Amino acid sequence: MNETLERWGSQRAFILAVTGAAVGLGNIWRFPYVAGENGGAAFLALYVGFVVLLGLPVMMAEILIGRAGRRSPSQSLAHLARQAGQSTHWRWVGSFGGVTVFLILSFYSVVSGWSIEYLVATINGSFVDAAPDQVAADFERFLADPLRMTFNHTLFLLLTMSVVAAGVSNGLEKLNNLMMPLLYVLLAVLVFHATTTVGFAQAMDWLFTPELSAVNPGVVLNAMGHAFFTLAVGACALMAYGAYMPDHQSLPRAVGMVAILDITVALLSGIAIFSVVFSQGMDPAAGPGLMFVTLPIAFADMPLGSVWLGMFFLLLLMATWTSSINLAEPMVAGLQGLGWRRSRATALVTVSVWLLGLLSVLSFSTLADVHWLAGRNFFELVSTVPSDVFLPLGGLLIAIFAVWVLPRDIALRALDAGPNGFRLWRAVVRYISIPLMCLVLISSLI
Ligand code: PHE
Repeated sequence: MNETLERWGSQRAFILAVTGAAVGLGNIWRFPYVAGENGGAAFLALYVGFVVLLGLPVMMAEILIGRAGRRSPSQSLAHLARQAGQSTHWRWVGSFGGVTVFLILSFYSVVSGWSIEYLVATINGSFVDAAPDQVAADFERFLADPLRMTFNHTLFLLLTMSVVAAGVSNGLEKLNNLMMPLLYVLLAVLVFHATTTVGFAQAMDWLFTPELSAVNPGVVLNAMGHAFFTLAVGACALMAYGAYMPDHQSLPRAVGMVAILDITVALLSGIAIFSVVFSQGMDPAAGPGLMFVTLPIAFADMPLGSVWLGMFFLLLLMATWTSSINLAEPMVAGLQGLGWRRSRATALVTVSVWLLGLLSVLSFSTLADVHWLAGRNFFELVSTVPSDVFLPLGGLLIAIFAVWVLPRDIALRALDAGPNGFRLWRAVVRYISIPLMCLVLISSLI
């Protein structure tokens, strides 16, 4: 065991850290717009199903590898493979995860920058009594301004990397402690407001009455990818956090808590956002701008609207902050594992993510019509393929490693759920999660 490694201060701190990684843009920004593009309730049902059958079991696999290895993801995989008498090439799964988080963080930072812009705009009173058309037009104008977008992207990335540079278990605990409860209070206010709008009934129907005709292979793949994205599973990012997990803590219980918190945040923001969409006669499939256009409209006709809206963007910023710290950690830990100093590793990751992020920034203006693959511009590509294909693929390899390669007694100890819990988990991963992931990945490729 690597004794120099930091540890989370308590069981609660670990749950909060993983929840902080899970709850982010995926729940508040991505879920509503992807559900909007994929028919609503059918997507929601599939996504919840995938969370239970794939997301949770694979999340346990991923964290337990980190916990058993107590090193950076690649080193843990290599070390455990060696113990099992298997090839150390398994470490490439960690490198693949590094590539995935690199791509995701590059656009994540840009979109998180939008909430900085909107926080400042709210404080400046830009949305007081704003008309819906004006809110939509302002958003378009912002997207078409690469300099403002770059400024916010830079600011957000610096915010993230300054915490990463200090070592995650220091600053992160306090941040999570404060943010998560506040986020729930605010979402509750929003949902309460939603119940008073004319679009509420239609939103509930649209979110909770699945229509089978809306399901096609694309929807299934997107739902699976979203389950991985929102839980932060499949990129070895949680493996990096598992390495700091305390010794005596049941993994299934911790992970179950996280999933419940994660799904409820998505549901609450879905209800809040779609009530506005239907009240205002907007298009649910409006795409990535959905949240940024609907919420200012929703708050505009509430008492103290700007105060609530400002708090909302502040919390969104904190939620994306804790997620992006998790996205950056495996890259920094990986470079450290190769002998780099933490400060140099952080600097390299910052500069490369920043540069790649510029392509996402420009995808809304200069490069909007430059199609890289299958008619998608850079942002459309980087915000879908790594989540929908790379995360499930990484998850598949992680799952195979955990149930077929890792020696039984090591996995049993790291899961910390007793022999029966272990047997159940392993059976689910072997006979449900792994075949299901193969099936969806293969059928979507065909
Ligand atoms: N789960 C995060 C979100 O929902 C995104 C994320 C994906 C974080 C993969 C880490 C790893 O915003």
